[in-house]
Amino acid sequence: MDQGLKGALSLAGQDACQRYYQSWADSYDSGFAREMEYRLPAHVAAAFLGAGGSGPVLDVGAGTGLLAERLREMGFDGEIDAADFSAKMLARAAEKRLYAGLYRADITQPLALPRRYGGIVSSGTFTSGHVGPEALPHLLDMALPGALVALSINRRVWTSVGFDRALEQLTAEARIADLRLPEVEVYGAAATALDADHAGDRALVALFSVV
Ligand SMILES: C[S@@+](CC[C@H](N)C(=O)[O-])C[C@H]1O[C@@H](n2cnc3c(N)ncnc32)[C@H](O)[C@@H]1O
Repeated sequence: MDQGLKGALSLAGQDACQRYYQSWADSYDSGFAREMEYRLPAHVAAAFLGAGGSGPVLDVGAGTGLLAERLREMGFDGEIDAADFSAKMLARAAEKRLYAGLYRADITQPLALPRRYGGIVSSGTFTSGHVGPEALPHLLDMALPGALVALSINRRVWTSVGFDRALEQLTAEARIADLRLPEVEVYGAAATALDADHAGDRALVALFSVV
């Protein structure tokens, strides 16, 4: 396996993160995702579709497009757009021809995308060294009322960077409703031999409706 995951989880700041993914893009699917049996995109896709999710969908921190691949495999045939701040990750995603629109954007900042999405999904982007809860209001700004949102949040950062409090606050402000938090495994059994520190990582899939 390449050394991608360990470095990725200890990134400090948006610039470092963006640079890291620029150089990881070519080996992300065949190295990290295949060798670690990376399951998170499948869990997010299943949670979104199982809760009745529909399009148009925005895949946030879409990377090379693994979540769109899983959505298509599970039968979703609606429109999917991708947002990511790494041009090289988006270039890999574009090759798969699964996305209608590909947008280079930093989701920690307000996005210049219209409020037109019936679904917002994300896998692997809300984790150590990546994106914190400050991005949540920007995502809500692009969602239609009643939109379904399914975002993976790594257990390691759930309370430490305040996702629990941010989602509680959005619920209290009646901006989101029906919050559910199924817990899933991030990797498969093969990960144990490759990265014992992270093989057992778990994530919550924050599944909620936009009010
Ligand atoms: C672990 S990868 C996940 C990619 C894909 N969703 C998957 O599950 O394979 C995290 C992705 O988030 C993107 N990313 C990280 N911080 C971001 C930010 N602030 N704005 C937009 N994209 C970001 C990275 O470029 C990378 O493609």
